[in-house]
Amino acid sequence: MVEPCQAGSPDHAPEHPQDLFVDWFAAAIAAGVTEPHAMTLSTVDADGLPDARVLILKGVTDDGAWTFAGSAQSTKGVQLGARPAAALTFHWKEQIRSIRVRGTVAQVPAPAARRDFLARGPAARTVALSAQQSSQLTDPGSFNRALSAPRQQLEEEPETVPETWRVWQLVPASVEFWQGQEDRNHLRLQYVRSGSSWEHHRLQP
Ligand SMILES: Cc1cc2nc3c(=O)[nH]c(=O)nc-3n(C[C@H](O)[C@H](O)[C@H](O)COP(=O)(O)O)c2cc1C
Repeated sequence: MVEPCQAGSPDHAPEHPQDLFVDWFAAAIAAGVTEPHAMTLSTVDADGLPDARVLILKGVTDDGAWTFAGSAQSTKGVQLGARPAAALTFHWKEQIRSIRVRGTVAQVPAPAARRDFLARGPAARTVALSAQQSSQLTDPGSFNRALSAPRQQLEEEPETVPETWRVWQLVPASVEFWQGQEDRNHLRLQYVRSGSSWEHHRLQP
């Protein structure tokens, strides 16, 4: 376990950023941080205009990929299709901590996306089956009424998975851990990928 102050010190930093992330995540849960797995996913559109929204972090793999899920038809899905690069931002207010992850994005193979979808609750699956996420909602009433068809479909065929469901993984080029300090001399530890390994260093506050 890396103590908060040690986290800013390259002398105590683990070799891989995902290990420090997992330590910090466990500490966030222990500290009662509300929804530590909620993060901002930033993307860019085809014109280079930034976009951002909140998503749930699905996990961090042992080899250091941050995963998240959604629809290929959504705005983020279209943006990631055109420009497979993104940033993730976590803010854990109770601990005065933030983490930034930047890198390239790839889709995980379909069987893993399928497993992710089937692990979702019935309401989430029903809406995902009927919605073209992020398309204009012209008639809320008829959309709500139309939910009965996918609801019934899921009762009859619980293994149904929409073809558009995706799990993406972000493979970072850099990861920054930020620990706020009362004297504003904040600790910033940045990892930068260097070939098959990582280098890390402090940043000025
Ligand atoms: C706490 C929280 C968690 C969310 N988790 C997800 C998620 O895991 N996947 C998802 O597609 N949208 C999630 N959303 C909704 C997104 O913020 C967003 O509205 C949606 O993905 C459409 O974004 P887009 O139009 O940029 O594609 C979440 C919203 C909140 C507030």
